[in-house]
Amino acid sequence: MSSSFIDLSSDAVTKPTVEMRQAMLDAEVGDDVYGDDLTVLKLQEMTAKLLGKEAALFVPSGTMGNLICALNHCSQFGSEMILGDECYMHIYQQGGCATLARIHSQTVPTQPDGTLLLHDIEQRIRIVKDDDHFTCTKLVCLENTHNRMGGKVLTVEYIQSVGKLCQQYGLKLHMDGSRLMNAVVKLGVSPAELVESYDSVLFCLSKGLVAPVGSLIVGTHEFIVQAKRLRKVLGGGMRQAGVLAAAGIISLAQMPKLLNLDHENAKLLAEGLSKINGCEIDPKNDVQTNMVFFSIKFQ
Ligand SMILES: Cc1ncc(COP(=O)(O)O)c(C=O)c1O
Repeated sequence: MSSSFIDLSSDAVTKPTVEMRQAMLDAEVGDDVYGDDLTVLKLQEMTAKLLGKEAALFVPSGTMGNLICALNHCSQFGSEMILGDECYMHIYQQGGCATLARIHSQTVPTQPDGTLLLHDIEQRIRIVKDDDHFTCTKLVCLENTHNRMGGKVLTVEYIQSVGKLCQQYGLKLHMDGSRLMNAVVKLGVSPAELVESYDSVLFCLSKGLVAPVGSLIVGTHEFIVQAKRLRKVLGGGMRQAGVLAAAGIISLAQMPKLLNLDHENAKLLAEGLSKINGCEIDPKNDVQTNMVFFSIKFQ
């Protein structure tokens, strides 16, 4: 493909920079299944510190990261999670939480701004002590930024309110933060502040942060120890993964500061598209981060 061609179909089609490719070549590696890969350990430490959590784990993809977290929180037979009807975990993960993790899902309507109404969540919570008919709610999942809602951002205040509700009922709160850094940059808060209310977070290096492969999950030490076992049973133990983590370290250190520019460009693109006859785009043109969804109407 010509170097003058810019593929805007998705932020997952981004390519590693020259500096990343060099870092991959130079990476110090070991066997990460044994915890011996120093570059992976460095990336995990950086991530845990950045997100203000006890520990982090490098995983091959966002899909596997979300699955590991759900499986970990819902390990008890007959567990249930509550999530939005438009979220990635529900729509695009091939039903992995049901088929592989055997978790029952209850969906609630996703609002246009990517939020789930507290009232809707609360209505579906089932804390079962002495009735064998029902599954038992263990987990609530949010997505930030929200893919199918066009990259909408959930605010710290909103997340705190869901966190309080979860605490009240003894539930865990997971964030599919595949594009966590886009939300951080948009809101102007620290990553740790944004994820404080969550028990686990998944975020991806391979989207707007342009690393070739890889995602991370964070949580308590105990959660991550168990997550590492689950990663292995799912086939995600990656041996000399330092070659990938080396690119990820550059992603984390250098790419977030460029995301504002991505957001400005996305807005500009939306403004231009909205002026083209036959191009259908959100009339409010509410592009908050790096996503622009439009359709072409053929006359
Ligand atoms: C919100 C969200 N979560 C999870 C994923 C899955 O990430 P991966 O493609 O690395 O499995 C994606 C992928 O686009 C996503 O948009």
